[in-house]
Parts: sequence; structure tokens; C-alpha cells
Amino acid sequence: MCGIVGYIGSEEAAPILIRGLKKLEYRGYDSAGIAVLGAGGLEVCKSKGALRFLEEKIQSGTGKALTGSAGIGHTRWATHGEPSDINSHPHTDVSGKIAVVHNGIIENHAKLKAWLEAHGVSFRSETDTEVIAHLIDFHFNGDLLQAVLEALKRLEGSYALGIICEEDPERIIAVRRESPLVIGAGKGENLIASDVPALLEHTRDVYYLEDREAAVLYRDHVEFYSEEGEVRRKELSHVEWDAAAAEKGGYAHFMLKEIHDQPKALTDTLRPRLKTDGPPARRSISLEEIGFDGSWAEAGRVVIAACGTAWHAAMIGKYAFEHLTRIPADADIASEYRYRDPIFDRKDIFIIISQSGETADTLAAMRMAKKSGARIIAITNVVGSTLAREADLVMYTWAGPEIAVASTKAFTTQLMCIYLIALQFGLLRGTITEEGLPGYIDALEQLSGQADKLLADKETIQRFAYQQFNKSKVFYMGRLFDYAVSLESALKLKEVSYTHSEAFAAGELKHGPIALVDDSTLVVAICTQSALFEKMDSNIKEVKARGAATAVITYDDVSRFDKTADVVFRIPRTLESLSPILSVIPCQLYAYYIAVQRGLDPDKPRNLAKSVTVE
Ligand code: AGP
Repeated sequence: MCGIVGYIGSEEAAPILIRGLKKLEYRGYDSAGIAVLGAGGLEVCKSKGALRFLEEKIQSGTGKALTGSAGIGHTRWATHGEPSDINSHPHTDVSGKIAVVHNGIIENHAKLKAWLEAHGVSFRSETDTEVIAHLIDFHFNGDLLQAVLEALKRLEGSYALGIICEEDPERIIAVRRESPLVIGAGKGENLIASDVPALLEHTRDVYYLEDREAAVLYRDHVEFYSEEGEVRRKELSHVEWDAAAAEKGGYAHFMLKEIHDQPKALTDTLRPRLKTDGPPARRSISLEEIGFDGSWAEAGRVVIAACGTAWHAAMIGKYAFEHLTRIPADADIASEYRYRDPIFDRKDIFIIISQSGETADTLAAMRMAKKSGARIIAITNVVGSTLAREADLVMYTWAGPEIAVASTKAFTTQLMCIYLIALQFGLLRGTITEEGLPGYIDALEQLSGQADKLLADKETIQRFAYQQFNKSKVFYMGRLFDYAVSLESALKLKEVSYTHSEAFAAGELKHGPIALVDDSTLVVAICTQSALFEKMDSNIKEVKARGAATAVITYDDVSRFDKTADVVFRIPRTLESLSPILSVIPCQLYAYYIAVQRGLDPDKPRNLAKSVTVE
């Protein structure tokens, strides 16, 4: 939800800011802007629309000269005020000496605006951010840091801010409260960014700002302060990702690249958690790295909370925990959970899943659970994210940066983490035996090669997508694990191709949804739970009789749907509880190819942002 960058060093800032913003466009892309500090003072250039419009404006000279070796930039996902040049960031004070970029929402902006207007300030934009620039100016007395700290005292809401001032030109101020911000420590240069990929061209050494902390970036060093102005010491972290991991790597889109990243991401997530004990040599799971010990398995209940795709992973987690550990398990939508009146028990364990580790609703659910005394395990893809820092235990999905808005490799690696945790719980509680565990481990290890095999045949899905291009309604149906995969598949299709797609628990079909089925409908039945094959077969016949085109996703050794469905897609045989990692892949590909055929950009679907850091 908006991306911010900042640079102070010895090179020209503008091209560095633009390249940084390109890495953050997934966070928002309805407008962009930069402000640069040079010999001529502060220059700002901003434009509605994708980043390329800003670049064109700068190149055509419509924007100002924009020379200087310090600056800030922003790519926007509008919350207050429509996408327009004037509402784009950076925002400046009345005199134009202070520029601010902001990710977050200032909740009391209306009150502050009225107060500032009463003090003679006239506003130019409809944004909540503009109040920040004027407030800083109100307190400015030659020292930008002091002015910022004073202004912060009046702000309510969430923010990550980058601020520069032509009357205090040798530094950039960065602050955060409930919105992500990373500081990149380079040689003779320092940077800020909402996310690590924007820094990788310059450095892999980063500082993660905590909530209510400020960083002051000079060319040769960075200082840290609390919002109260006390000096803070911070540890440098080293990022292992390389810059190439955040590039498209020859694929037309990030979404397709990330679908193809899955075999490696699955292995990277699994391998560090396996060990061989002996003699006799026996393979087992080791979660010591995340601090997981026997005390965790005494849980009375496991609650898994998340949003969107991560919530679908949570549903699969619920089924996996029930099946493998016999612990009562619930999967909750974080945005619902936080407003319910949920019942907690100190023996509950909360597993919170979030690719970004910054989703506002998910963080709120985690904080509620934590306050109640429950213990928290976070599953996230972003090292140093808020979720990772606030949870008791963290298990990282080693998927590498996920740039496309539609989550793919994050989902399957989240599942890998869930299975590992559930199996370890099961082992500690005796529902999985030491003899039985290697069978699961073998199956988990095979998933990477099996995913590879599925991807090698992606043209089959591409052809199918061409044939089904005109279907106005696409419904997915399944039971148990397959129902959760149906939900994820329907979400993928609707978010990237804008097709009306829904998911149904197949047993619910007759209770209403079948009324929607006609000859404009494609129904995809996911069939990996053998005890329910017969029921699924009947459901497929029912929708077919109403005119729907039908497709089935099942194992490569199952032929019973060949006569029932119009087309059958096969996935390699695996344990039935692990099948979601494979069965979702054809559905990810289908969504991707439909989007591309419709001429849409699957990486940046309309109205969406990668990371939803506001309610
Ligand atoms: C997935 O394709 C979506 N774009 C979205 O539902 C996403 O999964 C959700 O916003 C949660 O994000 P998180 O995993 O970063 O918390």
C-alpha cells in the first residue's frame, strides 16, 4: 500500500529513486513522484498513472531539472484523494522547502487540517499526507529532526515517512509507525525503502526500523532515535537474497516467474528443517532453528489466522492439524477475527500467516491473541517484518521476494511450513510415529520434483485457457483440502483476470450454488480425496446436466473421471493431505493465461496492492 524510497550519497539521486520505485510498484501504481535536493534547492516532479509516466515527464523536461544527490520517491495506492498529479507524493509545505513521502493513513488528518487552516495554511491536495509537511514546517526552526519529532506527537494512525528539507540538506529523516521501512547501509551512501528489493542494487546490509523509531541518514552514517528523541543503537542485518531474485529472469511477468520458482522455493523451505539422526540413520524434522520445543505440543487448540491467500493456507492448516495431530484446530479470517469477541485459552497456540508480515488485519489479530497470553508462531516470507518481530516463534518461507500482487509461491511454501509444524506436533503428541514420519518426509521432498513436472507441461493449461477464454463464470468445487484449494483458485482467477469466479464446497452445490450453473459456466472440480471420489463424480454429473463445461484435476493414476468430465488434468500422485501444493499449480497457471489473453497485466491487477497495511 504505497512504496517509498530515499537516497543520500554521491550519485545523481533521480535515476536511483526511479529504479528503486520500479522494485516497489507492486505496492501501488496509480501515481508516482520524486523530490530531489540539489544546488538549486528542492525540486519535485510527480505524475498520475504508472511509473513510466513519471519517467516520461522527467525525460521530456516537463518535470524540473531534478539534479542532486539526495532525494525521496513514492509510488501510490490511493486512500485519501483520487489518483491525480496533485494528490501524488511527495507533498510539500507552503514554501516548498520540505518534502514528505508517506505510506499509511493519518487518521486525525481532518482535525489537523482544520487546525492548520486556522493558522493560515492553504492546502493543495485531498490527501491525508499533506498535513504532515505543513506540521513539520510549523515546528521547523532550522533542525529538521526536531521539527519531525514535534510533528509526530500530533499524528494518529500509521506511517512510514521519508522527509527532506532544503534548509537542512545534508540528511534524510525516516520514521515508522505500523508501516514497513528498511534502511540500506551502503558505502558513502544510505537509502530507505518500504521493502528490501528496492535496496539490493546498492546494498544487502540493512537496518529494520521498529515502530516509533526515527532514522537520520547522512551520506556516511545513520543515526537512530526513539520518537522521544533518545539515541538508539541498532544491529545491522545481512539480506541473503540477491538482486536477481527480485527480477523477472526472462519470464514475461513476475507471476509466471514466481509460479516457476515454486519447485526451488519448496526445497529451500523444506531442506533446512530436515535432519538425519542415527544410528540407525533416521530422517526427522528439526524446528530447533525457530525455537520450537516439546512445550508447544501441549497446546489445547491451534488457531490459524490470516487474510486472502494466506487464509486459504490457514484452512488447509486446519485440516492438516486435525488429520495429523488430532488437536482441535480453527482457521480464521484475520479481518473478522479482530472484531469478534473470540474466546482465548492460555494453552491455545496461534499460527499467524502472512507473506508480507505487514498486513494490518493480520497484525491486529496477532496482537489480540498475544495480549490474551496465547503463544504465537508466525509464518512469513519477509525477514524482519513486523509479524516476524512481534511473534514468539518465526518460521520463514524461503520463497524469495514475491513481487506479483497475486500470491503463488508464498502460498505453497506457507503450506510446506504448516505441514512441517503439524508433523512435528503429531510426532510429539504420538499421532505420528517415528517409523511413520520418514514416509511423510519422502513425500514432502518429492513435491518439488513433482511441481517441476507439472510446470513442464504448462502448455496443456495454456491451450485449455485459450479454449475457455470466453467463459463468463468459472466455479471451482471440491471437498475438504480440495475445497480450500478451490477457494484459492477462484481468488487467483478473479484477481488477475476479473472473471466472475467462485468456490463451492461440492456438498453445498445443491443447497444453492447450482442455480447459477448454465452453459456459460466452466466448473473445475478438484478431486484428490479418494474417499470422496464417488460424491465428486455425482457433483460433476449434476453441473454437466445443467450445461456447464467441466474440468477435473486429479492424480495421474486415477481414471474414474475420464468419462464424466470434458477434460482431466493430472497431477503426480502424493499423500492426499499434501495434494494442495500440487493441485493449486494448474489453477495458478489457468488464472495467469486467462489474464494474459485478455490483455491484462497479471502482476498489477486493478484496485489491488501487494501489501494491505491499512484496514
Ligand atoms: C493473494 O493473491 C492476494 N493478493 C491477497 O489475498 C493476499 O494473500 C492477502 O492480502 C494477504 O497478504 P499477506 O500474506 O501479505 O498477509
